Amino acid sequence: MARALAYTLAISGLVFCVSLATSSRRRQPGTLSLPPIYGAWYLPSPIRGVIALAKLCMDEDSFLLALRRDYGQVVHIPWPLNQVLVLDGRLIRKVYRAPSSALSFAPIQHGIQTLAFGTPRRITQSAGLARMYDAHAKGLTNLRLDAPIERFTHVVQAKVAQLEEQIESSPAQAVEIPIVKWVVDTVFEAATSGLYGEEFCERALEAGLRGEFGRFDRCFPLLAAEMMPVALYAFVPRVADGMKGREAMLSVLARWVEDGLPGLDEGVIRDMAHIGSAEGYTSKEVATILSGNFWALHANASYIASALLLYTVQSEILDQVREEIDGLPQQSGDTANPVVTLKALASMPVVTSCVQETVRTNTSSFSMRVAEEDFVLSESASGEGGVLIHAGMRVVCATRVAHLTDGLWGDYPESWIGDRFAAKQQGDALSAKMARKMHGFGGGISTCEGRHLAMAELKSILTVVLAALDITPLRHVADPRIAVKSSDASNLWKGLQPSRDFTRPGLGAFQFGASDVMARVTKREVS
Ligand code: HEM
Ligand SMILES: *[C@@H]1O[C@H](CO)[C@@H](O)[C@H](O)[C@H]1NC(C)=O
Ligand SMILES: *[C@@H]1O[C@H](CO)[C@@H](O)[C@H](O)[C@H]1NC(C)=O
Repeated sequence: MARALAYTLAISGLVFCVSLATSSRRRQPGTLSLPPIYGAWYLPSPIRGVIALAKLCMDEDSFLLALRRDYGQVVHIPWPLNQVLVLDGRLIRKVYRAPSSALSFAPIQHGIQTLAFGTPRRITQSAGLARMYDAHAKGLTNLRLDAPIERFTHVVQAKVAQLEEQIESSPAQAVEIPIVKWVVDTVFEAATSGLYGEEFCERALEAGLRGEFGRFDRCFPLLAAEMMPVALYAFVPRVADGMKGREAMLSVLARWVEDGLPGLDEGVIRDMAHIGSAEGYTSKEVATILSGNFWALHANASYIASALLLYTVQSEILDQVREEIDGLPQQSGDTANPVVTLKALASMPVVTSCVQETVRTNTSSFSMRVAEEDFVLSESASGEGGVLIHAGMRVVCATRVAHLTDGLWGDYPESWIGDRFAAKQQGDALSAKMARKMHGFGGGISTCEGRHLAMAELKSILTVVLAALDITPLRHVADPRIAVKSSDASNLWKGLQPSRDFTRPGLGAFQFGASDVMARVTKREVS
């Protein structure tokens, strides 16, 4: 009897303490609230979660904008996603500024390294991998990009020269090409040569890695969501196919590492491979880590490049862009052949703005973090009026919403306006502020490591192509798999553009499947 009483007292004491601890945590600074939960109150939460996932996959933009309208800055999407979405620029920057001890990225990064690229867990946890990541970040800063950009530009120039030959030998002095495909193939080759050197690039083309990369990239959204156990990969056709693409990339990479990286005597890839080999990783293991870079190198930039070129040639900004291009130093006084260096590209404000505008309008990224402790997300420093995010929760910044709704962008945020980031009348301070608040390259501890490389690649291809060629979009080529959505009435854009492949929400630069635009290409008429 006495013992039972003691137990009861002990247990209720414990319950009391726990409830005190949790309630004091929840009450902390005055007016904290929990994020609102998505969906109708009378539905069980997993059903709400499934509805959210379906809507996200069907029409990402409408879904995200509706969330912003109905729930405000933050919303909790229940299982299967089970994430807190942040839908406001200012709060997104709070997330980006949080230290990794509060909102971490490493667990997500390691998950992807293992699940998507197949790096053994033993290596994912090791200090060797951390050193390779470090070499990757350092090797992609502007200080180290001269040689890669020179190789990149060289390939683009060769591709343009090929087109010029075709034009000269055609009776009409013109060719018609699917412009998205031409740009995407060109950037694939140029970027591969840029970071991996010519010899690897030749091997990659011979082994058809452009196609193999595509197979792998198509299943990437399924892998990156981390909802599928590795044991199931073989049973889901899209993933099984993607794994074949991955194997092909890995075997070409592993062979090249085994051969001692022929054709590449410096740079980020060489540094990474050397660290891996010194750690005693096999060539195949090193290849799994390099394949992460290879994927990142190609996952976004080529699609942005094709959109950039299409928007620029169809916009009023074209003359200003050409003025900047013609201002570059020229090879033997030939305006069709400017000298393109990293330094020259750094002083092209209108071209830079066109690139930033394309990244702003044609990307959707979900920057993810894991809350390592209870975290208060609030606009004010005191946490007043903030939202409490419980430890263990995933926080996801939906940059697309900020890109479409922030007042900062001025008029018609949903439209492509080439000089938005460089308009003379707005002054440098506002331009710089816009550049800081454009989160197409993510932010904080997960900022895109390839952003300097990507910016320079995009400026390089625009410069080389427009210096030499005139491009006139003629008609749309549709991909039968992609439903063409009628564009928003408020969107000012009236030019031709490919349709977006909607199967990849939050995964970056918009892709177009086989949707394309046929364009007439002639040698540039210099007025
Ligand atoms: C226009 C082209 C590109 C865009 C729009 C882009 C965008 C992004 C974004 C938004 C993120 C961060 C996602 C997050 O916050 O979680 C990211 C991460 C990353 N990007 Fe890019 N990217 C581009 C090109 C490249 C290129 C060319 C490379 C070259 C290797 C690259 C390498 C990476 C890497 C390694 C990360 C992961 C950073 C980390 O794990 O900490 N990206 N990119
Ligand atoms: C890219 O951005 C422009 C301008 O906002 C937009 O009109 C276009 O629809 C976007 N592209 C795709 C494929 O959604
Ligand atoms: C591609 O871009 C999107 C955002 O625009 C980002 O979420 C993704 O991480 C990027 N991937 C790489 C490898 O840069």
